[in-house]
Amino acid sequence: MTPPTGAIDKPRPQTHLVAGPVPGTRPARQRRPGTGAGAGSTWRIPAALVVLSIVPVVAGSLRLLEVAGGAQLLPTNPRIDASPAPVVVHIVAAALYALLGAFQFSTRLRRRRPRWHRTTGRLLVGAGLVVALSALWLTLFYPGAPGGALLWAIRLLVASAMAASIVLGFTAIRRRDIASHRAWMIRAYALAVGAGTQAFTQGVGEAIFGTSELSTALSISSGWVINAAVAEWVIRRPSARPARRARARPALAGSR
Ligand code: HEM
Repeated sequence: MTPPTGAIDKPRPQTHLVAGPVPGTRPARQRRPGTGAGAGSTWRIPAALVVLSIVPVVAGSLRLLEVAGGAQLLPTNPRIDASPAPVVVHIVAAALYALLGAFQFSTRLRRRRPRWHRTTGRLLVGAGLVVALSALWLTLFYPGAPGGALLWAIRLLVASAMAASIVLGFTAIRRRDIASHRAWMIRAYALAVGAGTQAFTQGVGEAIFGTSELSTALSISSGWVINAAVAEWVIRRPSARPARRARARPALAGSR
């Protein structure tokens, strides 16, 4: 059907869609940059990840002080006393990866400072690989760590999976496959900061089930299982953005 002449030619009073409120409705609340719900993606996620990493990073710092000749504030670890260098490398790389890596998950920071994300990302690929490879080394060459053969095997699996995820995340971004890059980098980071979740799972697990090899293996491993499950949920969950757009569409259609 042909619309009556003038209905399409006449300029439509569309300014309310972009410049101001629809007459008779409340004006949309203006948000200052860095405030409101949008700010959550800037600071809330990195802050939560830094908090999650705090326990192993503080424990690592105390261990570094001890290795440097300071007071012994942590339980003795005979493997570290015998060969401290690999664990020093592991702790320094892990602290860098956990703390700096947390800020790679800020959407706003990524959008506003893409070069920062890229430069930091390259540094984190190196740091993450050092964490994973030193973890493999510690597992293979630190004899008699608690947790027995089960935890030994799980550590080999986790460290290998972390290294593979970083490599896959890096090769994905070289091909400009952003979805795949995001997914693999989330997986790698989640496995690394399993060390933070383990502070809780090991505490609770050993308090309830004791400190047998099996209980230690299961309580430490459950930290990685929880983080891996959360990572898969984050990767698969539908983005809030299209949902918001979909909600807005009928409102816009109605205002035409
Ligand atoms: C952000 C990530 C990580 C942090 C902050 C971290 C921190 C630490 C610290 C502080 C130690 C020394 C423990 C002590 O003083 O007794 C350590 C040891 C160790 N870490 Fe990690 N770690 C991380 C990731 C990983 C990952 C992903 C693995 C993978 C399997 C791993 C495997 C190991 C192993 C095997 C040891 C030696 C345990 C022993 O023989 O007592 N770490 N880590």
